[in-house]
Amino acid sequence: MKILILGAGGREYSIARAILNESETHELFFQPGNGATNNLGTNLDIKDYNNLATFAIENEIELTIVGPEAPLVDGVVDIFKAKGLNIFGPSREAAQLEGSKVYMKNFLAKYNIPTARYIETASIEDAFKFTDTLTAPIVVKADGLCGGKGVIIAQNHDEAKIAISEMLSGKSFGDAGLKVIVEEFLDGYELSMFAVCDGDDYILLQAAQDHKKLLDGDKGPNTGGMGAYAPTPLVDEKLYQKVKDRIIKPTLEGMKKESAPFEGVLFIGIMVVNGEPITLEFNVRFGDPECEILMPLMTSSVSDMFLKAATNRLSEIKVEFSKQYAVGVVMASENYPYKSSKPAEIILDDVLHVDIEQNTHISFGGVSQEDGVLYADGGRVLVCVGLGDTIKQARDRAYLRCGQVHFAGKKIRTDIAYQAL
Ligand code: AMP
Ligand code: GLY
Repeated sequence: MKILILGAGGREYSIARAILNESETHELFFQPGNGATNNLGTNLDIKDYNNLATFAIENEIELTIVGPEAPLVDGVVDIFKAKGLNIFGPSREAAQLEGSKVYMKNFLAKYNIPTARYIETASIEDAFKFTDTLTAPIVVKADGLCGGKGVIIAQNHDEAKIAISEMLSGKSFGDAGLKVIVEEFLDGYELSMFAVCDGDDYILLQAAQDHKKLLDGDKGPNTGGMGAYAPTPLVDEKLYQKVKDRIIKPTLEGMKKESAPFEGVLFIGIMVVNGEPITLEFNVRFGDPECEILMPLMTSSVSDMFLKAATNRLSEIKVEFSKQYAVGVVMASENYPYKSSKPAEIILDDVLHVDIEQNTHISFGGVSQEDGVLYADGGRVLVCVGLGDTIKQARDRAYLRCGQVHFAGKKIRTDIAYQAL
């Protein structure tokens, strides 16, 4: 099959890798891709979505898979569908579940889906008044997309009010902050769950745990994610069932009622509080680095799952998962997440140990390539993934692989999966 993948990260690399593992006859294209995806297929440079759709038609692309949220919120799926192309991802309208936190929270409230108590407002007085009803810490969120930086966990009321003022005045996030959510702080443990949806049906993948803080012990600033593992033993059958009944089913039914049936990946950020799953947020795409560990755990065809989801035929297939665990450790560049770093040459040792060779791999994200040499050229550079029969074995293998990757300033967390061990 000829497949086009939109995006440039380790997430997109891992999807491509899984597709090529099922059959090397697939032909892959990336828009824009990164310095390593051109080893898996052809990188394009076609920014305009109409032109990209024309490329897809002329080159008989059978399926397009959208990785990141920005093209979804911009309506790339609507453009491709209007031209009769198969594309996996939500429509522009359905992408509002991630594109606008106000849309998402109001949707959750309307369909009685559990979420933190909140107010949604553009009024500083109302926001302050609601803040005074909460006990600290207090959570303040900008409405629009802020590249993962739009959530402030304020430790006291004054801090919360400063965050509210700076958002509403446009100072901190421009237009994305002109409406805010103020909500109660949920104290529990966090999970990432992913449902692949076709508008009517869904397939729930294994629950994962991400590590959002930069440093060991969940210290330091928030990042896009420094490592992840799956499946997590923190979820049992009962919890899966609650998530299906209370969150996924009503969301799919609700979106149909809103005339925006949800197709694509519904990424549910969950806080488990006293055994009950509460929705923190929705994203409308795979998590990164969660995708990098979920893709290698799928033993049935990944491309077929995306194609069936894109054509409303998920009920026709059965998706199968490996019995193993996967742990992914992100290697970030020197100045991440504060500012960009100078490109640094990546040196990959030959993997001589058979066990490591067979049970680990690398998904490349923020890399560029020049004359066959790879450079660390982004915040999160790559993910070392280890597979194993236990979480510990998978993690040990992932860290051994990390030891064989070198670039100036490389940064990793050394405690990925600690909550499960
Ligand atoms: P969000 O983008 O809404 O997922 O928020 C980013 C991160 O902030 C989440 O992954 C949580 O770690 C944290 N967070 C968001 N909302 C809450 C909340 N109501 N209570 C506790 N932590 C939260
Ligand atoms: N790893 C979290 C995210 O992709 O948003």
